[in-house]
Amino acid sequence: MSRSILPIFLSVLYVSISVVRCQTVFDITKFGAKANADATEAMMKVWKEACASTTPSKIVVPAGTYLMNSINLAGPCKGQITIELAGNFKAPADPSQMKDKSTWVKLEHVDGLTVNGLKGGGSFDGQGQIAWKQNECAKTGTCDELPYNFRFNFLNNCKISGIKSINSKLYHMGVLGCKNVTLYDTTIEAPANSLNTDGIHIGRSEGINVILAKIGTGDDCVSMGDGAKQIHVESVTCGPGHGISIGSLGRYPNEAPVTGVTIKNCKISNTDNGVRIKSWLASYEAVASDLHFEDITVENVGNPILVDQEYCPYGHCKAKTPSKVKISNISFKNVRGTTSTKEAVKLLCSSGSPCDKVELADIDLTFKGGAAVSMCKNVKPITSGKQNPVACSTPAPAGP
Ligand SMILES: *[C@@H]1O[C@H](CO)[C@@H](O)[C@H](O)[C@H]1NC(C)=O
Ligand SMILES: *[C@@H]1O[C@H](CO)[C@@H](O)[C@H](O)[C@H]1NC(C)=O
Repeated sequence: MSRSILPIFLSVLYVSISVVRCQTVFDITKFGAKANADATEAMMKVWKEACASTTPSKIVVPAGTYLMNSINLAGPCKGQITIELAGNFKAPADPSQMKDKSTWVKLEHVDGLTVNGLKGGGSFDGQGQIAWKQNECAKTGTCDELPYNFRFNFLNNCKISGIKSINSKLYHMGVLGCKNVTLYDTTIEAPANSLNTDGIHIGRSEGINVILAKIGTGDDCVSMGDGAKQIHVESVTCGPGHGISIGSLGRYPNEAPVTGVTIKNCKISNTDNGVRIKSWLASYEAVASDLHFEDITVENVGNPILVDQEYCPYGHCKAKTPSKVKISNISFKNVRGTTSTKEAVKLLCSSGSPCDKVELADIDLTFKGGAAVSMCKNVKPITSGKQNPVACSTPAPAGP
């Protein structure tokens, strides 16, 4: 480099570094938030300013517990935003006091957002105890009339780390219309008897990663609904709850396919089900394909491997006709541990659209009360490696 260019080069370098460092910090306590007081308004003000900032910005929530009603952190925003949470939040316990009847914390239409829950912070307590008593889902069959702790809607290229969601009034986290979003190091807690407190539900989204999570709830730990594409779930500890599930599918017309799902290296304990794919009886047409479960350890789990195309909770199906959901190219590899039900493997496919290309490899499931069994219906699984129980060892009960 010639001497005359060097100073120019150095000043360009200097300017670049200052731009990188120039992150505007928005501290919610400078906007009126105080520990043990309502921070809703401060949070909305801070978001408005950060979202309008053309340079990168950081929203800081200092240590402390803040009360907060429903908030909607909506984009599109002008620059990159990072949210750093040393503090924790509590929702109103009484569902009738929630400003948004369907959500506590909504994040939507944002690109490139980073959220970091720091050690000791980042927890969101939905105080769901009163709500669970008001849940009439089993009676009415409509199960969406209480607020979720989080809804992530139409987010792109976001990373959300270190969040702890506690006692949501309904589902803890809903992911809808998102692309390339990673949920990392997530903790979700609700008691086993809390109703419909699913951990993470992903629908109509592509490229979603759930990596490292500890989930215990009264419903599914992780579930995927229609239009879930390229979903990667890894290193999740699940239980209590209903396990990890795809579906239920086919309840509504024109559902988009669920395809490209990998569930890997998960540990499931004390749940009603392990890994399952479910579709409604009397369903509309739909597709579920390229679904792979690998390296799953189960401990005291009911139905560790379950494909259930006869799903009809609370007896709310219109008719007992076969499901029209087509399931193909699915595998269960290296699934081991203990089952709490004799039926360790149940592949109940639809007579209306039998399952294709189902693979069972290295299955080792033991039942305390005797020999475990494997049931197959409208499916011929391809097997390899250890098969305990022997694949399709027992006839399945007659059905629709
Ligand atoms: C996905 O999002 C991450 C941010 O979480 C970003 O670093 C990465 O470049 C994005 N990938 C693609 C393919 O856009
Ligand atoms: C089965 O699924 C895998 C993983 O998504 C995919 O790579 C493969 O092409 C699929 N095979 C068929 C026959 O569709």
